[in-house]
Amino acid sequence: MQVTIAENYQALSKQAAEIVAAQIINKPTSVLGLATGVTPLGMYEELVSLHKAGLVSFKEVTTFNLDEFVGISPLHPGSYHQYMRHRLFDHVDINIPQAHLPNGAAPNLKQECREYEAKIRKAGGIDLQVLGIGRNGHIGFNEPHGKFEAFTNVVTLDSASREANARFFSTPHEVPRQAITMGIRTIMQARTILLLASGFEKAQVLAKALEGPVTPAVPASVLQLHSNVVVLADEAAAQIISKINTGQAAIDFG
Ligand code: PGA
Repeated sequence: MQVTIAENYQALSKQAAEIVAAQIINKPTSVLGLATGVTPLGMYEELVSLHKAGLVSFKEVTTFNLDEFVGISPLHPGSYHQYMRHRLFDHVDINIPQAHLPNGAAPNLKQECREYEAKIRKAGGIDLQVLGIGRNGHIGFNEPHGKFEAFTNVVTLDSASREANARFFSTPHEVPRQAITMGIRTIMQARTILLLASGFEKAQVLAKALEGPVTPAVPASVLQLHSNVVVLADEAAAQIISKINTGQAAIDFG
């Protein structure tokens, strides 16, 4: 696991975008696993800038998002489909049929999960998976009570996850109770994983995930078992992790 501390959110976003862009430049047909939420917003902005500057093309890239809410249409403003449209897809040259998200409005959710997993396989697996980390330690929507072995599946959201997503809906009542998420196994099969963490509210859970025991009670801790993980944290999120593993022991967190 390689842990890098960025000075602030802006630097983190820039470094994350550069890692994604380098992946695409090295392999234009890359399969990317993408995340939503607040953390990657800056990364998407930077990627759009890199694209507009002619430095990176998404033409041959295939993407698979980690998750989507169940029971809302892909056109709902709170859906991750719309998030991805507004933050990335509408601003780059990606071939939209190659940009995949689970369909949370599918009539048969189990089948949708199986088909999503099969599409990832058919695309050759994920080269680079971008992840955020939930305050409860989740990755994708794999909540703390889950198991490590799941592939893409339907999950019930924790109250912490519903609260964190309430901003996308007009009333707390409207926040979906379920989601389709790539499973821990799906995520662990990615060849490279880029985990982003920003802000002090993630400091404790990041330390648990990186330095605590590997346990389904902290789903992100499973990443300790992956051979190719890059962790990018800003100083606020890195406040609790020991500096020994970061190669940045000299940073003064004052
Ligand atoms: P956030 O979500 O980036 O909005 O904090 C991260 C996550 O829940 O994975």
